[in-house]
Amino acid sequence: MTHEIIISAQTKEEIYKELLPQIKYLIEDETVIMANLANIAAALKTSFDFLWVGFYLAKGNQLVLGPFQGPVACTRIDFNKGVCGTSYSSQKAIIVPDVEVFPGHIACSNASKSEIVIPIYNNAAIVGVLDVDSHSLNNFDTIDEYYLTKVCAMIFPI
Ligand code: SME
Repeated sequence: MTHEIIISAQTKEEIYKELLPQIKYLIEDETVIMANLANIAAALKTSFDFLWVGFYLAKGNQLVLGPFQGPVACTRIDFNKGVCGTSYSSQKAIIVPDVEVFPGHIACSNASKSEIVIPIYNNAAIVGVLDVDSHSLNNFDTIDEYYLTKVCAMIFPI
């Protein structure tokens, strides 16, 4: 069986609207979470011009790098450090229009200019974050937050 993400839409919202059902289809029969995270990262990376898309998962008192697409990234982030750790600790999505002005931002790549981080829950308990980085300043807004939150809700269906 071949799986291929096919996107014909133009606006960002149209792309998300076409992509979400395809991601749901891609992951719904697979119970190994790592496999699904790997495919979600690939689906998002190939549908948008993102620099980096990936997951950090809670282990002990740190976030540890999970499946991702893009340049190599830092392996571990303390729960209260960087955009990822701040999102995890506050259990809130964070949109960073300019990474240079986010206090404590962790620069995994100099090419990253803006970023969005979305918390991931399993049965109401926070278990990690989705992190997306862009080559451009101001790349993310509430449209990304809305649809990426929906993607994260598909990972551990209730
Ligand atoms: N910028 C993130 C670190 C992860 S990389 O961007 C992939 C942060 O500040 O938490």
